Amino acid sequence: MTALGAAAALVLAACGGEGAGGSSSGNEGSAPEDLTIGVSMPTQTSERWIADGENVQEQLEELGYEVDLQYAGDDIPTQSQQVDQMITQGADVLIIAAIDGTALSSQLQAAADAGIPVISYDRLIRDSENVDFYVTFDNFAVGVAQAESLVEGLGEGGPFNIELFAGSLDDNNAFFFFEGAMSVLQPLIDDGTLVVKSGQTDIEQVATLRWQQETAQKRMEDLLTSTYNDGSRVDGVLSPYDGLSRGIITALQNAGYGPTTDGGAQPMPIVTGQDAEIASVKLIADSVQYSTIFKDTRDLAEQAVIAAEAFLDGDEPEANNTEDYDNGVKVVPSFLLPVETVTADNIQTALVDSGYWTAEEVESGQAE
Ligand code: BGC
Repeated sequence: MTALGAAAALVLAACGGEGAGGSSSGNEGSAPEDLTIGVSMPTQTSERWIADGENVQEQLEELGYEVDLQYAGDDIPTQSQQVDQMITQGADVLIIAAIDGTALSSQLQAAADAGIPVISYDRLIRDSENVDFYVTFDNFAVGVAQAESLVEGLGEGGPFNIELFAGSLDDNNAFFFFEGAMSVLQPLIDDGTLVVKSGQTDIEQVATLRWQQETAQKRMEDLLTSTYNDGSRVDGVLSPYDGLSRGIITALQNAGYGPTTDGGAQPMPIVTGQDAEIASVKLIADSVQYSTIFKDTRDLAEQAVIAAEAFLDGDEPEANNTEDYDNGVKVVPSFLLPVETVTADNIQTALVDSGYWTAEEVESGQAE
């Protein structure tokens, strides 16, 4: 047990209660089929969340648990309502990937009052003490890896014109990704190797509400007209998520970047990404997008399941990070998984050999 877990257990013991995440979930000895895990996912517009939901569900069902899996269509009231319902229907553990990390406080209070442990999945739920555990990837490392691949793709020389994109400001991860990336890029901006020609370098200026592809496409179009209408070119784009990368790439292609049928084209800028979505993996194989960051959602699902089982057994899940994820009220004990950069060079080893995508899926750009 971690020091933090021990402290929490002590406090709970002192209160004599069965609070969420406490040493007694009240479920010890119950058969798995008598226990229900509520799994709340943000959206089905992105493959990764579909895979996350399916993986968590499958792994829990294999162990015999009942699973209540809900997707909220990226709509905050829908997610609040779904979580409320899971609580009233007697969920024994909640696994939640929030749309807006600050919007679930009252649901989490209700969960705590009912003694239901809450596992924050991939995205940290903020401003609530009732988050018992956090399973995620090393989000700062994601940003570092994105920026390092951007710099690698640009190659020697410079100065290079780049533009920056960030994720949704209501998603705590967006800040980790951006800060990780800027830890690599800022020194190169300072020494003149990289030039953010638009001057837009604050996360507030470059954020993309709800991670929407169309929003990123529109911003890239606006940047091309406002900043690159003087004969200059964009050499690279930091994009934090494959969906945004595809919007950015569409804007660039519409403006004449990338190979065209008549051959007379500007080379496509180096564009990064995240999630190894199949459409983007194909773009990488075709040398249109440069890189993505692979986060194996099967492993994340497994960690969520391990944490859920620990709570159901009346234990504390084992954390490997008890420092970095302060949700505004407390540092949430976390389990962080490693990430891997994928370029055209290692699609086969990272994604196909690991069974994440088949060679046919990479070829077609579509999940089967
Ligand atoms: C996840 C990313 C994902 C993004 C958009 C983030 O919270 O960590 O993997 O690309 O949301 O769905």
